[in-house]
Parts: sequence; structure tokens; C-alpha cells
Amino acid sequence: MIFPEWTTTSQILYAFLAILAIGVGPAEYFGHAMMFYSKFRTASGVPPRLGMFILYFAPIAAAYFSARDYLPSATFIQWIVFGSVVIHFSKRVLESLFLHKYSGPVGAFTTILIASFYSLAAYIIGWLNRSPIPAVDIWFMVGILLYAIGIGGNFYHHKLLADLRKNSLEYFIPKGGLFERVVCPHYLFEIVTWTGIFLLSRHLAALLVLLFIVGYLTARSLRTLKWYRDRFTDFPEDRKAILPFIL
Ligand SMILES: NC(=O)c1ccc[n+]([C@@H]2O[C@H](COP(=O)([O-])OP(=O)(O)OC[C@H]3O[C@@H](n4cnc5c(N)ncnc54)[C@H](OP(=O)(O)O)[C@@H]3O)[C@@H](O)[C@H]2O)c1
Repeated sequence: MIFPEWTTTSQILYAFLAILAIGVGPAEYFGHAMMFYSKFRTASGVPPRLGMFILYFAPIAAAYFSARDYLPSATFIQWIVFGSVVIHFSKRVLESLFLHKYSGPVGAFTTILIASFYSLAAYIIGWLNRSPIPAVDIWFMVGILLYAIGIGGNFYHHKLLADLRKNSLEYFIPKGGLFERVVCPHYLFEIVTWTGIFLLSRHLAALLVLLFIVGYLTARSLRTLKWYRDRFTDFPEDRKAILPFIL
């Protein structure tokens, strides 16, 4: 793990990231910091494709601005770390524009909040990538593998969700893949992707970003499971939230 130089500024930044990472799960779970989109949207907001485009494009720009001075002479490792962040968010931009079938708007404040967090995360990882790990090691290879599995699994389950809406924009009980076991397999694979990014970057900040994502997506998947159970009387009883057989 690469730790920062502990200056006053870095202490404040890391304390902020740590508070976010620890607090986001409970805040989302108990409804104090709910993100108003998808099943938990409010009635009005930004058109969904536009909102999602903004919140996934902003971090690509942030990653570029944080890395633009060293990119021309970047090493292989730096390119992989930078590329992993940019490819992840580019995939989400493309999915938002061409794959997902949204049934309503995204809250304006939610759009700004998520765009800000993602941009901060992408900027910090891009910036810290000035000091990459010294050489490719086994964990770096594991990181690449997890990243590829995460991206592939996440896309596959997004496609299954999109295919549910062939004729209407209603909500259905998802089927296929890990949807047979959990309601949010796409979140599980997102966590796998960010575990991969952490192993590539190896900076403490990337670990805090990963913990934030684990906390947020776990809490939201638990709310999603409750939402399905409340909405569908025939909802399979053994289906979990995010981790097959466990949670
Ligand atoms: N890194 C993070 O912290 C983070 C946080 C959240 C999301 N994400 C990423 O964004 C991806 C999507 O997240 P999300 O929260 O938007 O997922 P989601 O709520 O499951 O929605 C994904 C898409 O599927 C549709 N959908 C969901 N459930 C459906 C159902 N039962 N029947 C028919 N259509 C359904 C949604 O439509 P509606 O919009 O109409 O509901 C939306 O178009 C995640 O997999 C992850 O990759 C990352």
C-alpha cells in the first residue's frame, strides 16, 4: 500500500475520504443520503440519459486533467491505472446512452452529488498515479483480472436488465445470470471492478474510494431487495441483496 506524505492538507483530505467511506453505507441504508434515481427517484429532475451522461463524463474529464502533464511520458503501469479509470467511466457513458432503458428522471442534486464524488475519486487516483507501484507484481496481475471480470460481469447484468424492457418501461423480476441469486449482481461486479482498480493503483485513497463504493452499493442493494419484496408478492424468498447465499 502506498501512503501519502502526512501534511495538514493530506490529513484533511484523507479524513474527509474516510468519513465518507464509513458514513455512506449507514446514511444510504437509513435513508439520510438516498440518491434519487431509478427505483428511488423523485417525480422531477434531469432527463435520465442527460443526467447519467453528465455524472459519468465528468470523471473522465477529471481523470484527464489530473494526469495530462505526465501522460505523454507515462510508464506502462501509469497507462494501465489511468486507462482502467477512463475505460470504466467511458463504458458507463456508453451504457447510459445506448443500453439502459430508463423509466424516469434523475434528481438534479443527485446528479451533481454523484458527478462530484466520481470526479473527486477519478482526479485523486489520476493525480496519485504520478507515484505508481515500482514494478508489475502478482497483485497487479490479479488487479487486471478482477478489473476485466468486473467490467464484463457488470455489462452482462446491465444487458439482462435492459432486455427485461422489450415492450414496456415497467419493472419486472430480473432473471438470468446471478440475478437468480441476488437482486444487484451488477453492483457486485462494480465492486469487483473497483477492487481491481485499487490493486492497480495501490494508493490508500483508492482503497478509501473502494470502501465508499462497497458501503454505498451494499446499502443500496439492501434497500433494493426490500423494494422488490414490497412490490412483488411472488418475489423468490431465497434471493439475497448482493452476495449470493450470504447478504
Ligand atoms: N460506483 C458506485 O458507487 C455506483 C453507484 C451506483 C451505480 N453504479 C453503477 O451504475 C450501474 C447502474 O446502477 P443503478 O443504480 O442505476 O442500477 P439500477 O437501479 O439497477 O438500474 C439500471 C438500469 O436497469 C433498469 N432496471 C433496474 N431494475 C429493473 C427491473 N426490475 N426491471 C426493469 N428494468 C430495471 C433501470 O431502469 P430505471 O432507471 O427506470 O429504474 C436502469 O435503466 C451499476 O451497476 C454500477 O455499475 C456505481
